[in-house]
Amino acid sequence: MTAKSVGFLTLLFAVMVSSCGTRQPEAEFPWLETPSHFPEINHPDDNELSLARWELGKRLFFETKLSVDGSKSCASCHFSESAFATNFPTNKGAFGADGTRNSPSLANIGYHPYFTREGGVPTLEMQVLVPIQEEDEFHNNILAIADTLSQDSTYVVASLNAYDSEITPFVITRSISAFERTLISGGSLYDRFLAGDSTVLSNSELSGLEVFISKGCSNCHNDFLLTNFEIINNGLYEEYSDPGLFNLTGNTEDIGKFKVPSLRNVTITYPYMHDGSLATLDDVFDHYVSGGSSHPNKSELITPISLSEEERSDLKAFFETLRDNSFIEWSSSL
Ligand code: HEC
Ligand code: HEC
Repeated sequence: MTAKSVGFLTLLFAVMVSSCGTRQPEAEFPWLETPSHFPEINHPDDNELSLARWELGKRLFFETKLSVDGSKSCASCHFSESAFATNFPTNKGAFGADGTRNSPSLANIGYHPYFTREGGVPTLEMQVLVPIQEEDEFHNNILAIADTLSQDSTYVVASLNAYDSEITPFVITRSISAFERTLISGGSLYDRFLAGDSTVLSNSELSGLEVFISKGCSNCHNDFLLTNFEIINNGLYEEYSDPGLFNLTGNTEDIGKFKVPSLRNVTITYPYMHDGSLATLDDVFDHYVSGGSSHPNKSELITPISLSEEERSDLKAFFETLRDNSFIEWSSSL
C-alpha cells in the first residue's frame, strides 16, 4: 500500500473511531442494527422513531394514492432492489410526465446534510413535499392527500397510533421520513474491511481501493459513505441544460454544481450522474480519464488521469465490495 493510501485509511479510521461506540440494536427494531462503525442516526426531537411511525411511513412510501392520478408511489422511482435508486436515466411521474433527473439512491439518506442534487432542501421532512408537488412526479397537494387518506379508516387508526393525531401534512411528512432514516446500508464486504477484518478483500479489490485513492477519487468520494457531500462541478458538460446549484442561487459560478453522490451500492445504481447520462461504470471511468469538459466552474481536482485495463477491472472489483446484499434482501422484502 502506498503512503498516500495509508494516510487515507488512517483518516478514515479516525473518523470511524471518533463517531462510533458500542451500540445495542433498538429493541423494537431487531432488524435495525446501526453498524458500529457508523454514527448514530439523528432522529429529530419532533419525530423520534417508533414502530408505529415506521410502519405508517413504510406504507405511505409504497402508496400510489400520493400521486394525483393514483399511479405512482415513492417506490416507483426509488426501487428497493436498486438500493432505492432506479435503473433508468429518468422516471415518469403522474400522467406519464417525463422527469429530468436521475433518482438517487436513498440508502443511508438519513446521514445526508441536505437533499436533492443541488442540496437545496434542509430536512428529509421538507424533502417529502418536493415529489408531492412536482408536476413530473406526484403533481399533487399535501392537503388533498391528507383528505384522501382520511377516508381510509386503517390510515386514521395508524396515524392515531403513530402521532396521536388525525392524518395531516405533519403526519405524512414525519412518518415517511422516519421510515427513510432506517434505510441504513452498512453490511457490505467493504464494511467488514472497515470494521477491521483486513482479510476480506481480495488482492484485486484492495488494488481497486488503492487506484481509487491514488487517482484522486477519494478527494471527493470519501468518509464512510464515500462522499464529502460537497456541491461540485465535475466537468460533465461544456453547457448544462440543468444548471444544478445555479437554480437556487442565480450565481453563474454555481452552474453545473451537484452533490457528490455516495458510491455505496454503486454497481446497482446505474445509470450515473444527475441526469443518468452515463450508462455504465466504464462510461464514468472514460469521463474521469478525459478530465471532463473545460467548464469554468469545473473543480480543480478533476484533471485527466490514466487508467489501465487492469486498473479499471480492479476499480470495478472494489466497487462490487460496496454492494450491500443484506440491505437489498431486507429492503426488497418490505
Ligand atoms: C417520478 C419519480 C420520483 C418519485 C415519484 C419520487 N422521487 Fe424522490 N427523487 C426523484 C428524483 C429525480 C430525485 C432527484 C431530485 C433533485 O435532485 O431535484 C429524487 C430525490 C429524492 C431525495 C433526495 C435524495 C438526495 O440525495 O438528496 C429523497 C430523500 C427522495 N427523493 C425521497 C422520495 C420520497 C419519500 C418520495 C415519495 C414521497 C419520492 N422520493 C418520490 C424521483 C422521484
Ligand atoms: C472533484 C470531486 C470529484 C472527484 C475527484 C471525483 N468525483 Fe465522482 N462525482 C463527483 C460529482 C460532483 C458527481 C456527481 C455529478 C453529477 O451528478 O452530475 C460524481 C459522480 C460520480 C459517479 C456517479 C455516481 C452516481 O450514483 O451517479 C461515480 C461512479 C463517480 N463519480 C466515480 C468517481 C471516480 C471513479 C473518481 C476517480 C477517478 C471520481 N468519481 C472522482 C465529484 C468527484
